[in-house]
Amino acid sequence: MQKTVSERAVRPVQQPKASAAGKAAKSASAVARVEKGVVERAPQLTPSRKSSRNSRRKTGGKAQGFTAATADKYELYQKAVQSPELDIGFLRRVFKSTRGRDALHFREDFCGTGLLSATWLAESPAGATAEGFDLDPEPVAWGLAHHFDDLGEKSKAYTVHLKDVRAAGSRAYDVRVSQNFSHFVFTKRAEMLAYFESARESLVDDGVFVIDLYGGSDATEEMKEDTKFRGFTYVWEQDKFFPGTGEYTNHITFRFPDGTALERAFSYKWRMWYLTELADILLEAGFQRVERYFEGWNAKGTAGDGIFRKGSRGENCGSWIAYLVGVK
Ligand SMILES: C[S@@+](CC[C@H](N)C(=O)[O-])C[C@H]1O[C@@H](n2cnc3c(N)ncnc32)[C@H](O)[C@@H]1O
Repeated sequence: MQKTVSERAVRPVQQPKASAAGKAAKSASAVARVEKGVVERAPQLTPSRKSSRNSRRKTGGKAQGFTAATADKYELYQKAVQSPELDIGFLRRVFKSTRGRDALHFREDFCGTGLLSATWLAESPAGATAEGFDLDPEPVAWGLAHHFDDLGEKSKAYTVHLKDVRAAGSRAYDVRVSQNFSHFVFTKRAEMLAYFESARESLVDDGVFVIDLYGGSDATEEMKEDTKFRGFTYVWEQDKFFPGTGEYTNHITFRFPDGTALERAFSYKWRMWYLTELADILLEAGFQRVERYFEGWNAKGTAGDGIFRKGSRGENCGSWIAYLVGVK
């Protein structure tokens, strides 16, 4: 069944727990810890989700009078492309079914604002921990100001490291994750292998490492796709793809009803990786096996259903999304 990106564009979603909507900027949380490492500014890379995955978009809620002069790109990004409760629910289920116990200790690579870590802590019992790693202090500071205050005591269990994701953390992790295709930033196989090896090394003996990815014939088309939300339009732009090198440049723009826009608010210089390449590199990094989970279709077959099921071969369609789980 061939399906295109736009056909996959709607999926039921949950509202984000820690929505930044309407929140005034607060000072960085007094309790979450920031471990300063080598603070290099990352290349202009910020969160992204390819259009098919934007099917998790949230179209409900009250319309707000967004305009370019006052809009907050992190707030809009979160509304357009993040669904932390769905993601954390998936990670918990995978860990439990693979390992037969509940996970407590979480590491979020390329954490940006740390929304996933905040959601992990909110939904975990006392004793759980979360660590985030990101090179860019700007989204990290934004996240500390917006996601952690509501957690009270639990926010003390979050540590964010302004370090490269290949750096060691403070403890061994049950679950370590790279979301929103952020690992596509590694454009050389040797870099990806070193990253996966460091991820495996950082886990407890029965830990899992989870990455997401997407593909299909639509993924490498140079195109722009608009998705309407209340108060703004999210534009995903697949700008350039070079098949010889895999170089893959994408942008996110937000447009507003008054004609203003945040042009290319986020840009990504990636390599387009195939699932089979990444699965092979995970095995080479020492994971004992790699499980694949593919998103299913809704009842009409017109959109993704937000549910990821274990499979092996996948479906040859215009746009698919999957998780790879490296089992240590
Ligand atoms: C696509 S965003 C992901 C944000 C968030 N995790 C999400 O799921 O939407 C990628 C983030 O990776 C960071 N980054 C890029 N290269 C990095 C590296 N080598 N080590 C740590 N962070 C990096 C960027 O600063 C950016 O915040």
